[in-house]
Amino acid sequence: MLRVRDLQVAYGPVIAVKNVSLDVASGAIVSLIGPNGAGKSSILNALSGVAPLKSGSIVFNGRDISRMSAHQRVSAGIAQAPEGRRVLAGMSVRENLELGGYRRPAKEVRENIGKMEEYFPVLRQKSKMAAGSLSGGEQQMLAIARGLMARPGLLLLDEPSLGLAPLVVRFIFEFLERLRDEGQTILLVEQNAREAMEISSYAYVIESGRIVVEGASRELRRDAAIERAYLGLA
Ligand SMILES: Nc1ncnc2c1ncn2[C@@H]1O[C@H](COP(=O)(O)OP(=O)(O)OP(=O)(O)O)[C@@H](O)[C@H]1O
Ligand SMILES: [Mg+2]
Repeated sequence: MLRVRDLQVAYGPVIAVKNVSLDVASGAIVSLIGPNGAGKSSILNALSGVAPLKSGSIVFNGRDISRMSAHQRVSAGIAQAPEGRRVLAGMSVRENLELGGYRRPAKEVRENIGKMEEYFPVLRQKSKMAAGSLSGGEQQMLAIARGLMARPGLLLLDEPSLGLAPLVVRFIFEFLERLRDEGQTILLVEQNAREAMEISSYAYVIESGRIVVEGASRELRRDAAIERAYLGLA
């Protein structure tokens, strides 16, 4: 579904992503893991069109989208739940969901809101409340639901577990598996490498803007060096 070749992202003179090539197959969860500042968000942001692409190609469903605007990419089928959730705090939960569906017809938006409220019943209970009044976990659910409102072929998720309590993290990862089982393709950025590798089929390890290791998550989980560097001591 997604084929990225020799992606470079630069902020002025600083090259944050260097020659990254990666693939995401339809229906898969693929994870990008790596330490702080490795360039994970820069990769996702370059795919969604909000970070500057210096060079490289991004082919999505057979189309080169690397010159499209962020809005055009949403229409093409790529939606992102950004790092730090970034819900619109002063707007209601429902308004945040409506914004996620801004490029879809009104009837479909209403249907999709129903679907999101079925996924996350708390979003129905708190539909009229300001998004800023939700807990961190609820805001993360809202951020994911807002991304899904675009009915994306590919959902980009940037650290959905960041700062959440273990039970909420568990819930979010189980939800991502449910989405995957429903056919949703997901590119997942996580520092929570263990959980990410449990739900993904393939993983890329990013360090200092480069892919240093890649492989089937099942294999990487058994790799002693990966275990030491990223999975911590159980
Ligand atoms: N808007 C920006 N302007 C300048 N430099 C940036 C910008 N965004 C990121 N960087 C730099 O690019 C590098 C990669 O950052 P990025 O946010 O992509 O890493 P990350 O892997 O997502 O890190 P984290 O785990 O902390 O979210 C870092 O050195 C960072 O300081
Ligand atoms: Mg990041």
